Amino acid sequence: MGIHLTKAVIPAAGLGTRFLPATKAMPKEMLPVVDKPAIQYVVEEAVDAGLSDVLVVTGRNKTAIDNHFDRVYELESTLEQKGKGDMLRVVNESTALADMHYVRQGDPLGLGHAVLRAKMHVGHEPFAVLLGDDIIDARDPLLQRMLDVQGQRNATVIALMEVDPSQTHLYGVASVEATDDDDVVKVTGLVEKPDPGKSPSNLAIIGRYVLRPEVFDVLENTPPGKGGEIQLTDALLTLAEDDEIAGGVYGVVFRGRRYDTGDKLDYIKAIVQLACDRKDLGPDLRPWLKEFVGGL
Ligand code: UTP
Repeated sequence: MGIHLTKAVIPAAGLGTRFLPATKAMPKEMLPVVDKPAIQYVVEEAVDAGLSDVLVVTGRNKTAIDNHFDRVYELESTLEQKGKGDMLRVVNESTALADMHYVRQGDPLGLGHAVLRAKMHVGHEPFAVLLGDDIIDARDPLLQRMLDVQGQRNATVIALMEVDPSQTHLYGVASVEATDDDDVVKVTGLVEKPDPGKSPSNLAIIGRYVLRPEVFDVLENTPPGKGGEIQLTDALLTLAEDDEIAGGVYGVVFRGRRYDTGDKLDYIKAIVQLACDRKDLGPDLRPWLKEFVGGL
């Protein structure tokens, strides 16, 4: 087994153009999913997998994220005075969650560039990257499995999910070979957002990665790719093509529930699905939803 990892990096510096105007003055990672910002689900997932040192790579609207994970004395004392203990607990939950750190990306030059900003903080250990707008349902754990595979194979591990062939142009897509493990594949090639009809498979990269520190050197030498951005996928391809650099790249194939909150339609689906399962909302929402759908 490998060393016990402690660090998670959450890139949250994208422009979120698909969600304008909501993201004009607020990062998309702060959009509420039922009653929590998307990024809080992601931090909770990291902590559940034992990664309590969390570095958020922020963009121009840093303060909203920073404040969310910080204390807010005025609100706390008001809630306390009014005897609203339940609410106070909810407020304090996000404050006590993890050991939070922040670094600014500067210019949003791409996901690869955002990850590179974590170099100083991460140092020489393997670490996880969790995209702040990508929620994995807590009932379908993925990150722990990826950390286990990383420990066993001492390689780079990415998360893959089968998507409809009509959707592959929205993702990084992998060519793979089977391994002895049912849910693990060896990645032999990767393409970022392949043109329609040119996708090597329908296995798309989703927003979880367990990386070795060698990725930083590779990223430093990765030129801008698709969209003029420094693409993490391009750096991963370099690692997949040469097992000597960092042990190659493996994919864990995820078959659980995932919500891409950076996409409007998926965001709406996420709220409905998660609210239906909630004890406080589901019993009222479900019958209403049935009636509503019946009228469509
Ligand atoms: P996306 O491509 O989904 O983010 O990046 P975006 O560019 O904000 O989205 P649209 O297309 O304009 O709506 C995936 C992840 O990488 C982060 C984003 O915050 C998101 O979590 N990212 C992307 C950065 O941190 N920096 C970047 O320069 C680009």
